[in-house]
Amino acid sequence: MTDDVVAPMRGRTQPDRVAIASLARLRIVQNPLSLALLARVRDRRTNIFEFGALSTQLASLLLWDACHDVALAETQVPNFAGEAITVHQLAERVAGVAILRAGLLFATPFRGIMPDAPLHQIGIRRDERSLRAIVYGDNLPTDADWADRVLILDPMLATGGSAVAALKHIRRSHSGNIAVVALIAAPVGVETVLRADPDVRVFTAALDDRLDDRGYIEPGLGDAGDRLFGTMNI
Ligand code: PRP
Ligand code: URA
Repeated sequence: MTDDVVAPMRGRTQPDRVAIASLARLRIVQNPLSLALLARVRDRRTNIFEFGALSTQLASLLLWDACHDVALAETQVPNFAGEAITVHQLAERVAGVAILRAGLLFATPFRGIMPDAPLHQIGIRRDERSLRAIVYGDNLPTDADWADRVLILDPMLATGGSAVAALKHIRRSHSGNIAVVALIAAPVGVETVLRADPDVRVFTAALDDRLDDRGYIEPGLGDAGDRLFGTMNI
């Protein structure tokens, strides 16, 4: 158990969305299908079952994109004509780190796309008054060289506090490629993450307008964890 705390962003002037959208280490992954999925995910009438299914599809799309430049190596397999054919396999060890609890929505697509890659978890809770991120546990490997590429998985990048807390934690034992993958990001969250690490990249399906005064993304999708697990009080 650790007690990492990241300073809140409340009260700070929020950065301009258009300026953030042009940053090289941010990739906004959009196509007609992702936009149509996003529309259903944002809609408060979408029920828990649909929310889980549709956000999982969106997460899958982001994972494909975040891995578009993973290194490949050639190998040989026997085909059905009895010949050895040359095919490709991943030459990088990719690992996921899901931020609990809402980051668990990435578990199914991650497992489906990279069946051999480890998926770790880090428990981070955002205090809703101070907006501080508190790390309450993790199961990250303790050895120094545990992955070539780490994907931090969380549907919401709001103040960026949770992602930066995860990033700092992971950087204790991982110096390689690292990316934050989020369904929806706020400009201030993107800026905070990119400032926290010179090499981190951010992949998102939407760069939204701003945070409201409770630290929620506008227009956003509400509370991702509550919608995923059905714990909202409405
Ligand atoms: C939510 C969300 C992110 C975090 C984003 O988690 O899933 O982890 O807030 O906010 P930030 O960028 O301002 O840190 P929350 O703390 O509500 O926990 P939960 O996933 O258990 O619902
Ligand atoms: N966490 C969420 O689940 N949604 C937000 O908009 C911000 C933080």
